[in-house]
Amino acid sequence: MPEAKVSIPSIIQAKKDGRKLVMVTAYDYPFGLMADEAGVDMVLVGDSLGMVVLGLEGTVAVTLEMMIHHIQAVVRGCKRPVVVGDMPFMSYNTGIRDAIINAGRLMKEGGCDCVKLEGGVDFAPVVQAIVKAGIPVQGHIGLTPQTASALGGFKIQGKDATAARRIVEDAKAIEAAGAFSIVAEAVPAPLGRLIAESVAVPVIGIGAGVDVDGQVLVTHDMVGLFDRFVPKFVKQYTKIRPTIIEAIKAYGEEVRTSAFPAPENSFGMSAETLAEVKQSIKKS
Ligand code: KIV
Repeated sequence: MPEAKVSIPSIIQAKKDGRKLVMVTAYDYPFGLMADEAGVDMVLVGDSLGMVVLGLEGTVAVTLEMMIHHIQAVVRGCKRPVVVGDMPFMSYNTGIRDAIINAGRLMKEGGCDCVKLEGGVDFAPVVQAIVKAGIPVQGHIGLTPQTASALGGFKIQGKDATAARRIVEDAKAIEAAGAFSIVAEAVPAPLGRLIAESVAVPVIGIGAGVDVDGQVLVTHDMVGLFDRFVPKFVKQYTKIRPTIIEAIKAYGEEVRTSAFPAPENSFGMSAETLAEVKQSIKKS
């Protein structure tokens, strides 16, 4: 019997029970399947796909259509975890009506269970409207990569008292707007703890220290598949990239020396059939 699907209420309950939540990113069917098999609680189809899958410089150029395409593939592989669809830049920034329509498209066409969007106090009305429309929302505060240029780059946030207090206010506003959980990215560990203590919904950290309610990592960072840059907060649990390069090199060498395909990788034909074919070719 397959394990029951993780529900949004069970994600909220995890914090009350003191159970840490595990979230990873996935962008396609095989990684969706592997995350499911590994038993994670939530799978985020993040707009980080722009960088780690599509080779873009950042997340700004990622479109709603790209997100829908990748969410559909991940959903096919994920039976148990909650699948979170990331709202790309400018899909929720242009007004409440656009935000509801676009969140609805991620769910209806992509098939995800909820959406995530970046922003604090200023985006609370948007979160509230999407939640009111019946779509669960995960917030994202601290370092918000879609507006990294306005923040002065991919930098740790909330380092001084004013900035730190603003981030706690962001968390409270997003919670009050109805978000079921909040991602907190790149903040000092003590601030991560303060954010988690300030709200009742789970705070999922990425570079926010250990004293939050769960963790999320970009899978391609965590398995060493993407090494254009590795943020300090990433732990590489394996380095799969050299293994794949070695496999492709070995294949290339065997193709060049005719060692591949071997008889066991080839299909046979009886000598009679071959003779018959040759005969008929001669006749024609
Ligand atoms: O897009 C993404 O992968 C994210 C994570 C960094 C939380 O937003």
